[in-house]
Amino acid sequence: MLADARAVLAAACAHDRAAEVAEEKLFGPAPNGLPRAYGAWQGEFLIGVAAVGGNRLRVLAVHPARRGRGIGSALLTACEDSALADGQRTLSTLDQPGNYLAPGIDERNAETIAWLERRRWVRAREPRLNVLIDVRGNPRVSVERAAELRAAAAARGYEVRRARTDETELLDAVATEFGGAWPFELSCALGFSPAGVHVATRDGAYCAFAAHDGNNRGLGWFGPTGTWPAHRGNGLGEALLVACLVDVAEAHPQCEVAWIGPRPFYEKVAGIASDRRFVLLTRAL
Ligand SMILES: CC(C)(COP(=O)(O)OP(=O)(O)OC[C@H]1O[C@@H](n2cnc3c(N)ncnc32)[C@H](O)[C@@H]1OP(=O)(O)O)[C@@H](O)C(=O)NCCC(=O)NCCS
Repeated sequence: MLADARAVLAAACAHDRAAEVAEEKLFGPAPNGLPRAYGAWQGEFLIGVAAVGGNRLRVLAVHPARRGRGIGSALLTACEDSALADGQRTLSTLDQPGNYLAPGIDERNAETIAWLERRRWVRAREPRLNVLIDVRGNPRVSVERAAELRAAAAARGYEVRRARTDETELLDAVATEFGGAWPFELSCALGFSPAGVHVATRDGAYCAFAAHDGNNRGLGWFGPTGTWPAHRGNGLGEALLVACLVDVAEAHPQCEVAWIGPRPFYEKVAGIASDRRFVLLTRAL
């Protein structure tokens, strides 16, 4: 089943690496629980898949050779009905906190955006932005630069280091300070070895953290990251970002930063190779 779903996603999703994270998107948990996954079969062949979790449509795809026959509409209706039965009032595209394929639908995917709009989905005015950072052959992303930034932080009294896989007290500290889906994503990133999480501490207290591959595991995406307010402006975010980028470079030529906040920060620390823009669509149920 999973291999078939991967094949559908690989053929259907030209703009997202959905096939590589098929299991996470179709069956993996989010902070609010497990999704409901749907398939459409023609005889024994899987030709379409969808998943819905809470008030988010996680993924929806029909094999290109089987489009225009009402299969996408049937899968979408199943997801909408499921969300309604679950007590949801709205459904939005892809951006499930803690387990999102993307922060919306890739702007280049105009056909799917128009298809949803014909089905009473409404697009948000402001696009959302991901940025791509080159992590190989980039002088600002190297083991040496990570060490320099770590030494500069040490001179200011901070220890910058990789988190341990069993460092659950970090999750509590992040839940208290930041909350939301971040502790969930961090627990996912702690869950592989070595942990995809770096932290800065001073006098035994957490001051900053950064993670990669906590969502869309295996794609080398960066985030979440946060510095406790009292410790901002000390180069900790920079040191932790570079440490994560060095990790990502082992497996990928680029690192994608989802749904960015301060663009100048990424521009300054590592440079931005390109942008991706996403459209968030929502439907009232
Ligand atoms: C969007 C997508 C799921 C639509 O799948 P689909 O199976 O072609 O969808 P449908 O067949 O229900 O709708 C396509 C058209 O065929 C028409 N159609 C043809 N025969 C039909 C039938 N027997 N019953 C219903 N509709 C039919 C529909 O009316 C519709 O036209 P409209 O949009 O002008 O109303 C598909 O294009 C896709 O997989 N896109 C890429 C995946 C993707 O990017 N997903 C988002 C990120 S996960």
